Amino acid sequence: MRGCALAVYAALLMRVLLYTGKGGVGKTTLSAATAIAASDRGHRTVVLSTDAAHSLADALDRDVGAEPTEIAPRLSALEIDVNREITRRWSRIRDFISHFLRSQGFDDIVAEEFAVLPGMDELLSLLKLREFAESGKYDVAVLDCAPTGATMRMLALPDAFRWYFEKVWDLERKVMRNAKPLIEKVLKIPLPTDDVYVSLRDLYDEVRKTRELLSNPRQTSMRIVCQAEKIVIKESQRALAYMNLFGYPVDAVFVNRVIGLATTNSGNGNGKVVPTFGEWEAIHKKHLAVAEEAFRPLAVRTIPLQPREPVGIQALRGLARELFRDADPAAPLHAGETLTITKSAGGYDLSLPLPGIRREELDLWMHGEELILQVKNWRRNIVLPKRLQRLSPEGARMDGDRFTVTFR
Ligand SMILES: Nc1ncnc2c1ncn2[C@@H]1O[C@H](COP(=O)(O)OP(=O)(O)O)[C@@H](O)[C@H]1O
Ligand SMILES: [Mg+2]
Repeated sequence: MRGCALAVYAALLMRVLLYTGKGGVGKTTLSAATAIAASDRGHRTVVLSTDAAHSLADALDRDVGAEPTEIAPRLSALEIDVNREITRRWSRIRDFISHFLRSQGFDDIVAEEFAVLPGMDELLSLLKLREFAESGKYDVAVLDCAPTGATMRMLALPDAFRWYFEKVWDLERKVMRNAKPLIEKVLKIPLPTDDVYVSLRDLYDEVRKTRELLSNPRQTSMRIVCQAEKIVIKESQRALAYMNLFGYPVDAVFVNRVIGLATTNSGNGNGKVVPTFGEWEAIHKKHLAVAEEAFRPLAVRTIPLQPREPVGIQALRGLARELFRDADPAAPLHAGETLTITKSAGGYDLSLPLPGIRREELDLWMHGEELILQVKNWRRNIVLPKRLQRLSPEGARMDGDRFTVTFR
């Protein structure tokens, strides 16, 4: 009975497919192709780009606006306009910050510019997703993201925001309430009014729900786009490790523009192998093998170099066919677990895959009910289940690609 209810629930959830990777590897192309294939299968689909350097319209060869525009049956596209989203969702908070800056002698233009906090635009892109998920209008949302670094910042934001809000904000608010009149008088600075706090609280709730949506593998699949080249693969491995660290579900790695593979894309060529250039065929072959090894057990799919730029719905549809064949592009391509907690002798093992990371690069410590893992300047706060909070971590090890902490 319960299983049945769950199945119905899962069917109602909008699927989110998030594409990231190094600049120029083909994120926009493959996002657009995936969205076309999803709509062809009957899913009501929306494809949105969050990269400020929008190129969705170019890839689709259609006009695309800041709100969903229908470009084919069951398929809408949009390029997020950050300023517009800021006005919609952030205006009260922004007004306060710019008012504050003006009071400190900044001129109007500077005050306006700085009122948008770093990362805010990326955060607002994520909130747009929640809006679509809530609306019930779409079965699938494909997210064409900015290059890896910006995407990682974007995905780290909900946690940073939560941390700030929970640990600092509530405290600050309590103190401020009583001290506000005095501070304003003595320091001559305006302090936030209650409606600013309410706006922040709403934003916080949205961010928390967005984090849940993006961490749920039944709802979200993140896909890394790369090329069969050494540096690109390395960067992709790092991206995967960070996504694992944050508990985001990655299901596939798409190796694009492989030289020496036949393309069956009739939109572009018919079973053609694009002529090879020098040693590129051998180089790609070698790195493809490396990628397959590095990303196991994720699905590693290849897309051949096309004889021309795959632009427009017809060409992209053909590209998607090469990529997904008869499979549903919206279904998870690999249903692997990210973080597991299992009972071990005298305690519990918490384990997560962190491929490409060495034990000595990783720092960990407990903070209240959280286990904190840090790799260089990336940090993940894992909120531990109650049972583990009462125990202490007694040993951490890397077994191949899996990192395990034992709690006793
Ligand atoms: N498999 C492919 N074969 C040939 N050209 C491709 C292929 N995939 C993408 N391209 C072209 O490469 C360029 C960059 O792709 P794009 O999707 O815009 O990358 P990104 O969004 O990652 O920056 C575009 O001109 C696109 O048409
Ligand atoms: Mg792009």
